[in-house]
Amino acid sequence: MSRTILVTGGAGYIGSHTAVSLLEQGHSIVIVDNLCNSSSKAVERVAELGGRDVAFVQADVTDKEALSQVFDNHPIEAVIHFAGLKAVGESVEQPLRYYRTNLETTMVLLDVMQEHRVWDLVFSSSATVYGDPRVLPIPESAPTGPTNPYGRTKLMIEDICRDVAAAEPNWRIAILRYFNPVGAHPSGDLGEDPTGPPNNLVPFVMQAAVGRRGSVSVFGDDYDTPDGTGVRDYIHVIDLALGHLAALSHLDNGCREFNLGTGSGASVLEILSATERISGKKLNYEIVSRREGDIAISLADPSRANTELDWRAERALETMLRDAWNWQNKNPNGFDQD
Ligand code: NAD
Ligand code: UFG
Repeated sequence: MSRTILVTGGAGYIGSHTAVSLLEQGHSIVIVDNLCNSSSKAVERVAELGGRDVAFVQADVTDKEALSQVFDNHPIEAVIHFAGLKAVGESVEQPLRYYRTNLETTMVLLDVMQEHRVWDLVFSSSATVYGDPRVLPIPESAPTGPTNPYGRTKLMIEDICRDVAAAEPNWRIAILRYFNPVGAHPSGDLGEDPTGPPNNLVPFVMQAAVGRRGSVSVFGDDYDTPDGTGVRDYIHVIDLALGHLAALSHLDNGCREFNLGTGSGASVLEILSATERISGKKLNYEIVSRREGDIAISLADPSRANTELDWRAERALETMLRDAWNWQNKNPNGFDQD
């Protein structure tokens, strides 16, 4: 069934890939993004890759009047809400900015949706809500306990979603807890383009391989893991995008949480050696001390999404890194090169 979907934050990394998948499956999309962490070129590429026009409104999701106008002007039937700030370290330094942006975007959106009687919502949460996990792999029923302001904004938004769904039975909300999204569109025309030096491992490693960064710092080799470096559940951004489509088509009344991950992990050193092999570039790295707040291992138990959403992450680590490298090599300076 093709629908008109509002994608907030659709110019960003995960939103733009999801937007292409939505177009490919016949949906019409409206993107609202203030471009505070993205480029309008990403929206152009979404339209090219999706082979269809995209309605794009450059606006802040906290601007209620602007957002209401979007709902007045387009027959929105469902929303995927990506817009927000996501850098863990920055959230520690600027907590108020993070609480204000992430909570306010969501509350304004929920308000406007309610006023327009649009009840279908898919929300970008994060595995960071689990904090330091006591059980591995992590099921959705695991205790939550984020360890930084960014993670706390995600958990607060989850609570808000659960509360509005309890108060108004028309709501149909899926909360997606992403593990570590990496990779890029296989065309190499769409990918992750962080501003400034990347905080996350894979974009940093790719920029190092293409010669834009120097040595990679490995944050600790004394964790209780097979090679001593941190282990994460990396998931291809296309698999993640398809998880949103699956969530949309399986929405049910109320609010339900889903882990989106593969269930298998890779260490920092494994990422480095696989990237060297795939790119053919030698990487310099040094072991430095642990990064504050990091955990040893994060692994999803994705069985709820497998069963209830009929979704499974299919792309292997090799494909994730090959696609990430293809994007970086084709666009060494990201979207700003031309
Ligand atoms: P991103 O920064 O690339 O995309 C977010 C987009 O939202 C950007 O285009 C930005 O310009 C826009 N935006 C921010 N504030 C806005 C506002 N007030 N109004 C309108 N637009 C605004 O990030 P991403 O990696 O694509 O992440 C998307 C979502 O997924 C975020 O909510 C993030 O917290 C969540 N998430 C990301 C990861 C990850 O590792 N990338 C992991 C878990 C969850
Ligand atoms: N790492 C390094 N060097 C770097 C960057 C990272 O060694 O330069 C290590 C980290 O210590 C960790 C692993 O690489 O062991 C992955 O780190 P990332 O920063 O790529 O990812 P995180 O797991 O720390 O966090 C990411 C997002 C969070 C999100 C979380 C779960 O940044 O926002 O995944 O989805 F909440």
